Order: sequence, then C-alpha cells, then structure tokens
Amino acid sequence: MAAVLRFNMRWILALVVACLLLSSMIFVRLRPAPPTPPLPVRDVPSYWPPPVENAVCRPKIYVYEAPSTFQVPKSVQQGRCHESNYNSEIILHDQLTDPNSVFHQLYVTKNPEEADFFFIPFFGACYLYHCWSQTNWRWDERCEVDSRYVDPMMDMVINQYPYWNATGGRTHIMTMPMDQTFTYYQSNERFQPAIFLKTVGDKRSKWMYRHRYHHDIVIPSATRIVHHLGIDPLRYLNDEGQPKVGKRDIFVLFHGCCDSVQVDDEYSNGIRSLFFNYFSHYPGYEIGQGLADVEYAEKLSRAKYGLAPMGWTLDTTRIWEFMAYGVVPVVIADGIIEPFEFDVDWDSFIVRVRRDEVHRLDEILRGIDDATYEYKRRRLWEHGRRVGLEKDAWHYIVRELCRMEHIDKPENLGLGY
Ligand SMILES: *[C@@H]1O[C@H](CO)[C@@H](O)[C@H](O)[C@H]1NC(C)=O
Repeated sequence: MAAVLRFNMRWILALVVACLLLSSMIFVRLRPAPPTPPLPVRDVPSYWPPPVENAVCRPKIYVYEAPSTFQVPKSVQQGRCHESNYNSEIILHDQLTDPNSVFHQLYVTKNPEEADFFFIPFFGACYLYHCWSQTNWRWDERCEVDSRYVDPMMDMVINQYPYWNATGGRTHIMTMPMDQTFTYYQSNERFQPAIFLKTVGDKRSKWMYRHRYHHDIVIPSATRIVHHLGIDPLRYLNDEGQPKVGKRDIFVLFHGCCDSVQVDDEYSNGIRSLFFNYFSHYPGYEIGQGLADVEYAEKLSRAKYGLAPMGWTLDTTRIWEFMAYGVVPVVIADGIIEPFEFDVDWDSFIVRVRRDEVHRLDEILRGIDDATYEYKRRRLWEHGRRVGLEKDAWHYIVRELCRMEHIDKPENLGLGY
C-alpha cells in the first residue's frame, strides 16, 4: 500500500514540475518584446534628403534683359498676369533680378563671361494670357506670339551674344508654365536646346514628347491664394503650423472643378466624379466648386487632408496651397513627376492614392493613425512647405542645374536650415 502511494507521489511531483516548466515557457513567450528604439542619427552625407543649404554647386547665372520694344510691358506683367496660375515665369525672374533677394545675391552675375547658365526673360505665358483676356478667352488665339515675341527674343539671344552658340543653347533656361508647355509656339524649334522649367511633370507615354528627359526641370506652380492675393498663412496658423483658433476640424477638403464630371471623362480620368457624387456626403468632408478667396484660406487652415487630384494634366496646382497651409496633400495623379524629386522626400509628407483605389479613399485616410499623420504634418511644415515658389524653389532648381551640367562643387550656403 505504502509503495503504491510513494509511486503515485513521484508521478504527481513529476507532473507538477512539468506543468511549472511549461507555464514558465509560455510566460516567457507572452512577455512583451522590448520596444524598438529609433535608429541613431547618421552623418549627413550618408543620409537623404540633404539639407537644402548643402548645395551641389553654386553656379553663376546671367539674366538677359529684353528691350521694351518686344518685352511684355511691366504694366501687363504686374497687372493682368499677376492673377494667373502661370505666373511662376515672372515670380522666378523677379526673384533673380531683385537685388534684395537671397537668390540674386547667391547666384546672379552681371558678367556673362563668368556665367554657367543664362536665364532668358521669356514670359510667353503672360503674353498669351494677356492675349486671351483681350480676345474673349479664346484659348486658340495666339496674337502673333511667334513673330512679335518668340522670334525677336531668340534673335536677340542668338545673334547679339556669343553664349547661345557657344554651347548650342544647352546652358540657357526658359520657363514653360502652361499645360501644353512649348507647343503653343510654332517656332519652338528655335529654343528647343534650352532647359525648360515647367509646372507639369508626367511619366505617361501619352505626353512623353512634352517632357524632355534630363532636359526639363519640374517646378512649383503659382496659386491665386498665395501668390496673387498674397494671403499669409501665418495670419491663421501658429509657428507649429496649427490653427491659432480651434483645431483642424475639416477631415478632407476639396474645392475645385467640376461637379458634372462623369466616371469615364478624360478630365481627371473621372476621379473627381467620386468626390462630388459620393464623398461630399461623408462626415468631415468639405467638397465644393472652386474657391479662391479669404473663405478658402480660412478653410485651408482648418483642414487635415486636402485632395490634389489630376485635372486636364498632372499639374495638381492645389497642392501648393495645401502645403503653404500645412494641410497634408492626398495626391491622386498616377504617373506624376513632382518638382525636385531628387532632393525632396515627397512621400514623407504626402499621401498617394492610386486611381484604382480612390473609391476606398475614406477607409485609407481613416486607417492612418495619429502618429503617422502627425509625422507627415510635421515634415510638411518643416520641409515640404519650403519647396514652393515663395520660398526655396530657386535653391532646388539650381541643384538640378548643377547635376545637368555635371558641376560637383559642394558648398554650404549658410542658410541655417
Ligand atoms: C550663332 O549662330 C547662328 C547660326 O549659325 C548665326 O546666325 C549667328 O550669327 C551666331 N551668333 C553670333 C553671335 O555669332
């Protein structure tokens, strides 16, 4: 009897020990893993994107001066064309020629002999915009732009100075800020060798001929709110980019054309039809027709996300207003080339939604957690915002120019950021 008992006791003991072992193994397994620490900061050259003050090179740019005999009159530049979304050509020119601007001080030379690049003061978009405004907005009107503007401009550059011929025009810069870039001008053959600064960047084969690989630089657009009305976002936002009053209580903002878009339209590849027919009924969505006044500025300062869909082209002009106001852009433009992709980490501060997922827009945006949103918003406010025309666009253009001409002479511009 005692032997049987002892035998049982031994078995029970073994069972208890086995149980303890098993449960301790399970416990070890269930204990949460230690949190992953962020990676240490790396030395700047091993990291991307670089600070904009670490220039690739500091080229010298000579700006031609066009006589009033054919140049678009100053009164038209500062009058009619000031309201135009194509105004980047005049803004960028004026930044170079204004003696008080940092770009003038850093990059411009009065001596063409020492220049690396030559800026042609070509305001073809302004010429045409003014022309259209006087001909009842008939977009196919040209007002003799070739014979009265392009030809005298190119005659001056090619015949009166030796610099165009010296490099076959390769080091010359012109701005083409309209949808159809250089194709408005019949005599565009004359200036094809030049580098174009253009607002539309498009990888689709359909428009390949309008984007000249390694020959074009995509730049920001001018927008009515920021560049024409000149409304300062800091009227509404504090230094952190948050509303001075209240909080960002509009979840998704879109004001633009057109509530009649159909799913199979070419305009916006049908994308906007879902905004007006569906998302406009969702809670937190502020969707409406184009707005470009103080009311819109006020809405921008209250929005978390802003929709930047393609229109006729992949120039999503609205994005520059969102960025200026710290609104995280939702880019819906498959195939877009954003400005300065080699130096600007776009994906750190925008959300991309592909056309075949636009119907899931709400699910996608609601699925972005607070920490990820705040990361993007912060990156946008601290870096993305500086890409616009009113801030650092020229520094970024210059980086591209250095690479195009293979000038590798790093220099610190001493900007302090
Ligand atoms: C540049 O070349 C063109 C074409 O050969 C010529 O007509 C023009 O006079 C040249 N320009 C100068 C400044 O020599």
